[in-house]
Parts: sequence; structure tokens; C-alpha cells
Amino acid sequence: MDLIVARNREDLVKARRAGTVALVPTMGALHEGHMSLIRQARVRADQVVVSVFVNPLQFTPNEDFSRYPRTFDADLDACRTEGVDVVFHPAAEDMYALDRQVGISSGEMGARVEGVFRPGHFDGVLTVVLKLFNLVRPDLAVFGQKDAQQLALIRRMVTDLDLPIEILGVPTVREPDGLALSSRNRYLSEDDRRVALALSRALRTGAAQFTAATIRAAAQEVLDAAGPDLGVDYLALVDPATFTEVGDDFGGVAVLAVAARVGGTRLIDNVTLTLNPA
Ligand code: PAF
Repeated sequence: MDLIVARNREDLVKARRAGTVALVPTMGALHEGHMSLIRQARVRADQVVVSVFVNPLQFTPNEDFSRYPRTFDADLDACRTEGVDVVFHPAAEDMYALDRQVGISSGEMGARVEGVFRPGHFDGVLTVVLKLFNLVRPDLAVFGQKDAQQLALIRRMVTDLDLPIEILGVPTVREPDGLALSSRNRYLSEDDRRVALALSRALRTGAAQFTAATIRAAAQEVLDAAGPDLGVDYLALVDPATFTEVGDDFGGVAVLAVAARVGGTRLIDNVTLTLNPA
């Protein structure tokens, strides 16, 4: 079957076949990380829909919405190669009415960690994800663990709003040197890229420790050693379901998350760890 490009709800209804549907929501500029989501979707469902939509609602005013990479033709080729059935590519004016009033609130959880630096970001993410769920009506939706707080909030939205959709989180894909794949990596100069490696190095170094205090200290030391070219926004060791900081005596599963600016580019990364109680 040839790849179908759907622009609106009617196109999606026409493209729907019998069987299960998996949705892979993206903002395009697809890379190997997205391919890994698509492959999981392919294995798990009869029909795979990839949405490509740069969602204006999730960018805060000083962020890179206008320069966010848009590579639709290459995205279509990649989807075709991976056997995607439908690419949903709506226009912004079809997604959001000018007099739009109602959206999703990500609550206190959306104001923590990443939300401190990107106020309103997760409200915008949840609003578009719920709209995509309502338009595509998938049985399963696939997201990257690289956006760990986004994934936790989407799971929370599904629980809190009783959405009949299974959420699958897929591990982060990395370059051989450890850099997590991201559409924003293409903004990095060679020098930026070298500095950016401090993020994954800090996570790896932290992950070699066993208690909350030593994990935090070891990871922080690596970030400090990167010098002034790395503008660290946060290093956080949090409960994976709530994104609240864990105490120094915590034992169990936690997420070590980091965000930093390199040149003009903001990068995030995280790793999931099991801690021994102190
Ligand atoms: O992770 C992303 O690319 C976006 O936040 C998403 C989930 C597609 C919503 O716009």
C-alpha cells in the first residue's frame, strides 16, 4: 500500500482500515530516534499513523518555533521506507481556531523540573496530544523516553481523563559517543557538539553511583567541569511518575534528568536508575 498523506479528520477517516492503529506523534525533522518509535509501532499495530506537526502551543515566546527544522519531504521518504501507512500533516489553522478557548492543564506536575524553564510548554504538549488522539483515534501511541517528563505527563493524562489508549515509551537512541538523538542536534556546531557530550557523560557518571547523594554529586561534577560554554538549567533526580525530587535516603527507581544550553541550542537528556536506600 502506498503512503497516504492526511491533512484533516476526513482524510484520516478515509485512510482508516480494519484492525489496530498505532500513532507516533512527531514534530517532523525525523531521525533514527523517530525510526525506532515507528518500528515499535509497526510491530504492535496493523496500521501506523505518524503525525508531523510543529505545535506552536508548546513553544514559549523566546523559543525556536519559527526556525524549528521543517523537512517534510525527507520525513515522507523516511516514513515510506519504514512502511508507515498514513502521515497526518495538518495545517496550524486547521488545528487551532483563532478564538480557541479550551486546553489541557498539566497541573503542578507540568510546572516542575522542565516546566520551571518552559512555562506553559506541557499544557501545549498535552493539548495537541489530546487533539491528535481525538483525530486519529489510535489504540496505541508511542513516545520517546528522551522526553521523560512529557511521557510521564501523557501517561498521567491518559489515567486522569480515562482515555482508552495504551502508551508505549521507547528507549532513547544515542550517537556512538553518547549524544542523545534530537531534531535540535542539527543546530550544533562541531565545538557545541563536543561541549554537549557533557550531558550524557554526566548521566553515565551519575548512573555508576548507587545513592541519591552520590549520584547527584558525581553528575554535577561532570557538568561543572564542562565550563562556561555549558549553561546548565537543571540537574534533577526525580520520581519517574511525578517528577518530584527524591530525598537523599530514597531507594527505588528514579530518573536523573538534565537540561543545558550550548551555543543557542537547548538540549535535554535523562537516564532511569535504581537507587539503593542510603
Ligand atoms: O515530542 C514531540 O515531538 C512533541 O512534543 C509531540 C509529542 C509530537 C507533541 O507536539
